[in-house]
Formats: sequence, structure tokens, C-alpha cells
Amino acid sequence: MQSSVKKVLAISGSTRKASSNLHLINAIGALAADRMRITVFDGLMNIPPFNPDDDHEQPPAVIMAFRKQLQEADAILICTPEYAMGLPGTLKNAIDWTVSSCEFSNKPVAAITASSMGNLAHASLLATLKVIEARMTEDTQLLISFIKTKVNSNGEITDADTLTSVQRLIAALCELMESGKQESGMGL
Ligand SMILES: Cc1cc2nc3c(=O)[nH]c(=O)nc-3n(C[C@H](O)[C@H](O)[C@H](O)COP(=O)(O)O)c2cc1C
Repeated sequence: MQSSVKKVLAISGSTRKASSNLHLINAIGALAADRMRITVFDGLMNIPPFNPDDDHEQPPAVIMAFRKQLQEADAILICTPEYAMGLPGTLKNAIDWTVSSCEFSNKPVAAITASSMGNLAHASLLATLKVIEARMTEDTQLLISFIKTKVNSNGEITDADTLTSVQRLIAALCELMESGKQESGMGL
């Protein structure tokens, strides 16, 4: 039986207009159109700097809206570059706002670091997602180095191995949403 189309919220760690991470999200949206409806979160630039003093019952309106979008998604797809050997501050800042409110807890998540190199940001992203209890498997995690040579501005993955890896990740995320199974080790 055909399962229903799932709601996926995608967050690009790059806010650049011509971001290759955004192109990659678009490519995933096209490849998985029969299984997922991907909405790109467009508010990263409007998330205020995290301050625990503001993290109470009435946080800033943009934070409440961000948390609601996360809650309503069946899964979250993060695609991010590496900046200065770590995660982009805008992405980490947004995630910090979810630590107390727990939107990632037990939520199916696919985590892609797509960068020039990216291995340090990828390890950092996985460590953060682990501590906020995101639900992932090894196959919903992917590091893509030299991203600019592997996806084009039409949202097409032009590298065969990358295409195979991304298709595997899509299948794994679908399976994770369907099964509700939890894996904790995540191969960190
Ligand atoms: C300020 C800055 C720092 C960067 N530092 C790194 C880095 O440490 N490691 C890396 O792999 N790429 C680094 N890059 C390259 C980006 O990861 C690369 O340009 C990537 O394609 C950007 O993603 P985007 O196309 O989605 O914007 C850096 C880029 C910028 C602008």
C-alpha cells in the first residue's frame, strides 16, 4: 500500500541565495516528491541570538513560530556547510532555542553536511543532534565534501555516487518516519 506523503521541514545552514545546500534540498525535494513534501524554513536570519533569560513560557514570537513548524513536521532535514571548522552560527543558534522545548526529541532527522570538506561540522552537528535526542540512523546521516561540484543550480545532483547516497538517505528517512524505531548509537 502507498504510504501517505510526509511533511518534512528542511533547514539550510547556509542563508546564501545561491547556496549549494539549498540546491541540495531542492534536489531531495524533487527526488522524493512522491513520498515527502519539503518546506524550506526561511526564518533562520530572523532568529534572535539565544539567551536563556528569554527562553521562558513567552519566548519571542519568531521562536514560537519556529518551534511550531518543527512540531508539525513529520521529519526534519538539515543541510549545512562548515564554516571555520564548525557549524554556521546561525544554525547552531536556532538549534539552541530548541534545547529546553525539545522539538527534536524523538523526531526523525536527516543530517547532511555539504561543504568543501565538512567533517568537523558534521561531527559537531551529530553530537548536538544526539544530545537533543533526535531520532536518526547511520543512513540518515551524510557528509558530502566538494559539494559545489556535485549539485547544480537547477537542483540536480550531478555526481553519481552522491546521487546514490542521497537516495539511500531519502529511503532511510522514510523508513524512520514509518517505523518509529529508535537507534541511539548513531555511529558517532
Ligand atoms: C566564512 C566561511 C568559512 C568557511 N569555512 C569552511 C570550513 O571550515 N570548512 C569547509 O569545508 N568549508 C568552509 N567554507 C566553504 C563553504 O563550506 C562552501 O563554500 C560551501 O559550499 C558553502 O555552502 P553553500 O554553498 O550552501 O553556501 C567556508 C566558507 C565561508 C564563507
